[in-house]
Order: sequence, then C-alpha cells, then structure tokens
Amino acid sequence: MTENDFVSSRYIENQIEGTVTWKSPSNIALVKYWGKKENQIPANPSISFTLDHCATTTTLAYVKRNKEQQQERFSFDLLFEGSPKPEFKPKIGKFFERVEKYIPFVKDYHFSIDTSNSFPHSSGIASSASGMSALALCLMSVEKALNEKITNDYFNQKASFLARLGSGSACRSIEGEMVVWGQNEDVKEASDLYGVKLSQEIHSVFKNYQDTILLVDKGQKQVSSTVGHDLMHGHPFAEMRFKQAETNLSKLIKILQNGDQKGFIELVESEALTLHAMMMTSLPYFILMKPHTLQIINKIWEYRSATGSNLCFTLDAGANVHLLYPENEKDTVLTFIKNELVAYCENGQYICDQIGLGASLMDN
Ligand code: DP6
Repeated sequence: MTENDFVSSRYIENQIEGTVTWKSPSNIALVKYWGKKENQIPANPSISFTLDHCATTTTLAYVKRNKEQQQERFSFDLLFEGSPKPEFKPKIGKFFERVEKYIPFVKDYHFSIDTSNSFPHSSGIASSASGMSALALCLMSVEKALNEKITNDYFNQKASFLARLGSGSACRSIEGEMVVWGQNEDVKEASDLYGVKLSQEIHSVFKNYQDTILLVDKGQKQVSSTVGHDLMHGHPFAEMRFKQAETNLSKLIKILQNGDQKGFIELVESEALTLHAMMMTSLPYFILMKPHTLQIINKIWEYRSATGSNLCFTLDAGANVHLLYPENEKDTVLTFIKNELVAYCENGQYICDQIGLGASLMDN
C-alpha cells in the first residue's frame, strides 16, 4: 500500500449525523521507535505488545455543518474526562490538518469528541497512543458510514495509517497482540505507513505476558516525544542505533518464536537502556530516569539472580518502569512488587496490565 491508496476519492452515502465509540489500548514497545523523518516516517522499525487495560474510550458525534459554520477549516468540541480541555485542541486541530487529504469529510462535519482514559490522569503513562488510535478509529467509522464497501482489512490499515499521523506509536494500538511498524527484512508485509499484526506463530511462553507499570514519577514528561525524536537528527550515534534496532527486531522475532526467555530479557532491557542512552548523549542531553527507577532496576536484577525468575523491565521516555513477565509467575512477581518495589512508586501506585487483543467498537 502507498500513501495514495489511503486517499478517499468519493463517498457513496450522504450521512447527516451519527455517533460512534471506540475503546483503544496503549502499547509498550519492545524494540523502540526513536527518531523519525518527515511525515511521521520512523527512522527504524519497532515492535510492541498491545496492552489490555490501559486504554482510551472516545465517543465521536458528528453532524453535517451548514454553510455559515464553514468559515473555520475544522469544527470540533472536546471533552476530556467529562470537562472541556482547551489545551488538547491544538494537537487535534493539527491532526485534522494532517489527515484531511485522506479523509476529506473532516471539513464537512462538526465533531463532538468525548474522551476518557482508564488509567489515572497524569500518571506519566503516554496517552497519545491510545488517544490518537481511538480517534482515528472513530473517524474510520465515519468513513465506513460514507462508504460501506470498505473492507475490514482496509479499515484497520487506514485506522493505523491515520493514527500514525497523530502520534507514531499510536499506529501500533489498533490490533493485538504484537504489532510491527516500519519496513524491515523479516516481516515482509511491514510498512513505514502503518502497523501490522505480527503474523508469525508466537511460542506459548510469550502468550498472556504480563505488564505491571510502576508509577515512579507521575509528573509532566520532561521532554515531549516530539522533541526527543528530533534530537536524533545529527545525533552522533543515530545511524548505529537505527541499524541496531533493525538487528534487534530480527533477533526478537526469532526469540518470540523459539521461546528463548533469557534472550528476550537481554534484548528488551538493552533496548530500554539504549533509548535512555540516546537521550543522555544528545544535545541538549536529558536524564529521564529518577533515582527510584534505578533502584527498581537493581532490585529486579537481584531478584532475578536470586530466584531464576524471567521478570524483566522496559522503559518509555520517562521514569516509570514496565515490568514484563510470563503469566505463570504472576503470583510470585506480585508478591515481590508488594514487598520490595511499591516503596519506590509515587503514592505506592502501580497498574497491572497484560497483552491485549486490540481496539474494540463499543455500543452507543
Ligand atoms: C519512547 O509515538 O509518542 O514510547 O510520533 O512524536 O507522537 P510522536 O512520538 P511517540 O513516541 C514514542 C516513543 C517511545 C518508544 C515507542 O513507543 O516505540
């Protein structure tokens, strides 16, 4: 598929109004997307686990605009957790600008967007992946109402394509259980334009993997992802990093198939630390981990060597720690978290999640 395949040319139906609701999950990258080119094209391929509980639910009500309402390019209201959220509007306005070429109906309707997250507000958990994918899916439902002929595959691909234009990692939130984004040698159907579900059969140990998110620092992110990606331009290690991500993706796909958990731990932790190393070695440089992040990492390493557990960690571009582990270690790891790690979480907060199956359409 090329960009032109996502340009809608003609709508068959003339829908006056409607309402649609999608629930879309967050995702956690195992091989990280860090660095991008023009138009939200990733500098390297990435792969993620789709989450289950951490999700955004968005209801989109749409009604045809009359001529007088058409002075503004786009018309929309926004409620976040039930209250108006003017500070989110510029990001959505920008998203509409980016997607207009592909879904020209966006300028014909007034939209009321009502959105809420399942995870606590300002928990430091990135809501852009779940938020942008939920909105993209709602817009695809409008497109489907205007052209019922579109297939499910096209629906999902284009939802991912649109979500990517809102936030890169959002294109990995449409489907589960693992999604690859970015061209690479190992997944022939992968694209820079949208995420694809990993079709290879995964070893049973990686099915039902758990992700417990330790909320170390719930404050505003020190560096936005957009600024972070930008720091990879002219970064002294950028080219090596992009090559390494490709190699790591290739290795990880084999690991996921053969069930090599030790290999998984080494690769996933190395990816997390490399992401942070890129930030520490850019100009300007940043340290996004907090002392508690490091204490948790050390505790995990001690726990692993004492017990032989397969628990490992990954990080986003922030201080929170994602603990990844197989389902059969759930009880023991949760006991370890309660006894040893909760003390490092802000207000003792953590979120238990697991691999999920992707977004779902809700009844209105
Ligand atoms: C560290 O998708 O938030 O989470 O495309 O600028 O919106 P934008 O960036 P974003 O970047 C996510 C970066 C990451 C790694 C990842 O999810 O792959």
